[in-house]
Order: sequence, then structure tokens, then C-alpha cells
Amino acid sequence: MNFISIDDVSSEQMQRIFDIADRIKAGKMEVSIGQDAIMVLLFEKPSTRTRVSFEAAMAKLGGKSIYLDSMTTQLSRGESLSDTAKVLSGYANYLVARMNRHADIVEMASSSTIPVINALTDLEHPCQSLSDLYTVRDAKKALKGIRLAFVGDIAANTANSLMLAGVKLGVDIVLIGPKEYQPNPVYFTKAREYGSVEVFDDPKEGLSDVDVIYTDTFVSMGQEKEAQDRKKLFEPYQVNAEMLKYANDDAIVMHCLPAHRGEEISAEVLDGPRSVVWDQAKNKMLIEEAILLYLSENETG
Ligand code: CP
Ligand code: NVA
Repeated sequence: MNFISIDDVSSEQMQRIFDIADRIKAGKMEVSIGQDAIMVLLFEKPSTRTRVSFEAAMAKLGGKSIYLDSMTTQLSRGESLSDTAKVLSGYANYLVARMNRHADIVEMASSSTIPVINALTDLEHPCQSLSDLYTVRDAKKALKGIRLAFVGDIAANTANSLMLAGVKLGVDIVLIGPKEYQPNPVYFTKAREYGSVEVFDDPKEGLSDVDVIYTDTFVSMGQEKEAQDRKKLFEPYQVNAEMLKYANDDAIVMHCLPAHRGEEISAEVLDGPRSVVWDQAKNKMLIEEAILLYLSENETG
């Protein structure tokens, strides 16, 4: 089994991963994946959290990690993704990849004989969504019926995965952003088959009765050339104290990080009492540990 798109992960599988995470957290589970387990991380883009949390998760499970910056591999000299995936499958048990193009991770998975895990592509950030929803469940003691608003770049990879994972677990999704950037039609259509997804361009209207306010950078990795236009267009969607007033009084604030204080979120809100971003970041390691254990269960039957 791979972990490439939330589209391939059922609500039962997500619940199972949450159960594993709960048991790890409670110290009720023997956490070992075998000392021979090797995870290769192949990254085409920078990362702080995802890289370190995956490496730390693997270390806690007793295995080893090998980090590869794609630019220092033969990929940079034209070796094919398919040949690379075949060769890495002979050395390792898991391949965690952060790729520019989603199609590239799909191509690698088709030539790989080991589980391939998506550590972010232009279209998705599935491990992030799972740890985000685990964090919501922790903070709100529920997922079903929770109203989560994604504010800002509602066409981003994080929005795609979060909306689809959210509705599968019974979360009502609200997408709030400028008319010029509509949600990705594929993820939006799929998500609406599972549950409620509403789109607003007016934050005041969209944030009514919201329990969770989520934001991400206005300029994702690879969009640097559009930075100026994006920052201007998204400016009215900064998550700040004024915006919090439109949501429920106990609404929490989330951000996948890295954050840009003064752009998509104010420093006051990011560092304020409603923000759960540090728990959110910490939970990445726990959920990734659970994902690795889940995949190893599946591999060994
Ligand atoms: N949230 C997240 O994926 O952060 P990194 O880019 O630092 O991995
Ligand atoms: N949307 C952001 C997420 C970073 C974790 C990006 O792709 O850069």
C-alpha cells in the first residue's frame, strides 16, 4: 500500500491510524518496526518539519533513515524517476518523497516495490492533513460536525488534502478566498461527494459558526514568481484578531507552518492563546509514526 493521496485512504484507514497514534501516545503499544527497516527520504523541495518528524518517527520505531536531496542524486543528471524508484526499492523498505509534481510521485510508485509516502507535492500534503485532523480531534474532542474554515489560498495542496480528508471524517469544510483563486475542481468535486464543502469570498460570512480557522502561506513553494500578485490579492484574507471575531468564541487557529507573520496570519494570532500550531507541528511526528506502523502492518499482513 502507498500513501500518496487522501483519495486512496478510507475513513476507516484514517481512524485506524488515529487509533495507533492514540495507543503510542498512551504508551500502550510496542512501537517497533524492526531494526533492519530503512526509510529513504527523497526531497525535491526544502523541508524542516516533515523531514525531521519522519526521521525522528523512524528512529523511535527502531529503524534508520537516509535523506536524499534530489539535486545531489543522479535525478539531477536525468536518471528517470522509474529507474530511481526501482533501485531504491532494493535498498529500503519505505520511500518518503517530496516532489514538485504530483504526477512524479505517482510515476515513482508505479515502479516501486516498497510503500511510497507523499511528503508534499503541488497537489497534496496527505500526512499533514491527517496530523491536522488528529490535532482538531484532540482540541475539540470530536470531528463529526466540526466546522473548519480554510482561509486564503484555497487552491493550495494543503487545502486539497484537508478538504478531502476532513469530509471523509465528517468535518464540514468552508473555503474562504478571493474569487480569482477557486478550489481545485477535482478535489472540490470529490470532497462534495462525501460531505459539506462551501465556498465564500467574504470572510465575515464564511466564518460564521466556525470552530477551526486554518491558513497556509499565500505563496507556496514553486510559486515564487507569482509572489507579488498573490500577496496583494490575498491581503484581505489575513487571519488576524479582527477575523477571529467572526468565528465562534472558542474557535482554534491552525497553520501547517512555515508561517509568514504579517502576511497570511498576524503575529498576535499565531502566537496567541487560540493558536494550536505548536501542538499541530508536534503531532506530525506521532501521526507519521502511526502511518509507518500502519503500512508495516499491511506489508506483513
Ligand atoms: N508543514 C510542513 O510540511 O513543513 P515543512 O515544509 O517544514 O516540512
Ligand atoms: N502550501 C505550502 C505548504 C508548505 C508546508 C507549500 O506547498 O509550500
